Amino acid sequence: MSGTETLVEMRHIEKFYGRVHALRDVNLTIRRGEIVGLLGDNGAGKSTLIKVLSGAVPYTSGQIFIKGREVRLRSTNDAIVSGIETIYQDSALVPQLSIARNLFLGRELRTGPRFLDRLDQERMNAVAADLLKRVGISKNIPPTTPIGSLSGGERQAVAIARAMYFDSDLIVLDEPTNNLGVAETQGVLRFVREARDTGHSCIFIAHNIHHVFQVVDRMVVMRRGSVVADDLSPATSSIQEVENIITGEHMAA
Ligand SMILES: Nc1ncnc2c1ncn2[C@@H]1O[C@H](COP(=O)(O)OP(=O)(O)O)[C@@H](O)[C@H]1O
Ligand SMILES: [Mg+2]
Repeated sequence: MSGTETLVEMRHIEKFYGRVHALRDVNLTIRRGEIVGLLGDNGAGKSTLIKVLSGAVPYTSGQIFIKGREVRLRSTNDAIVSGIETIYQDSALVPQLSIARNLFLGRELRTGPRFLDRLDQERMNAVAADLLKRVGISKNIPPTTPIGSLSGGERQAVAIARAMYFDSDLIVLDEPTNNLGVAETQGVLRFVREARDTGHSCIFIAHNIHHVFQVVDRMVVMRRGSVVADDLSPATSSIQEVENIITGEHMAA
């Protein structure tokens, strides 16, 4: 399914948090339509890498290219404009607001004369209802429901629906299945597959290596700030082999 067009290229990325050397000469390429699993022990640098890519933290040095053009991401908005949408475990959803309002947060649809600045609530609700169906929320949840009353998996679905609606080229999921039940986890994995089927690329970080094996095309492993493998395939590598690379066991032999 993965094309050959390079969507994102990170070159020689270095990141220091004070004295902590969190990213060491990291190179990462993501092609269009590719689902990439990012693996590594706690503290390996996974979240830092995707925060750099989503404009949430500044990097110390290196270059980032998106669709062949060098970009300097100074904010999460810069990344979103470049087509990169990141979904954290506690995504930037506002519990008191409705599903529909959360979907359009910061990008609300408007109606009537510009100076009245009136929200097009009706159209946002209609789009939201349609999206909820598409991402597989089969229960009949009205789009006016506050996010606060949804389960963890349903919230993930809303965040993914948002990335799909705004047609992000790359959807980044940092541990989206943590604290989710079995059915909800299956839901998130199904959305990742659907994202690929609709031509989106995805970076998927998960603790549970079995979940990663179920959905990704390729795996990248980080250890102590460095990328130590970037072309592992779930079709040709075993879970044990990948676990050994994550822990560095394979070096001992
Ligand atoms: N805001 C921060 N300030 C200082 N050190 C940080 C910060 N965030 C992460 N680190 C450190 O950077 C390293 C990589 O962390 P992180 O990217 O969160 O790893 P992972 O997501 O793989 O668990 C760790 O040593 C961590 O302690
Ligand atoms: Mg992390």
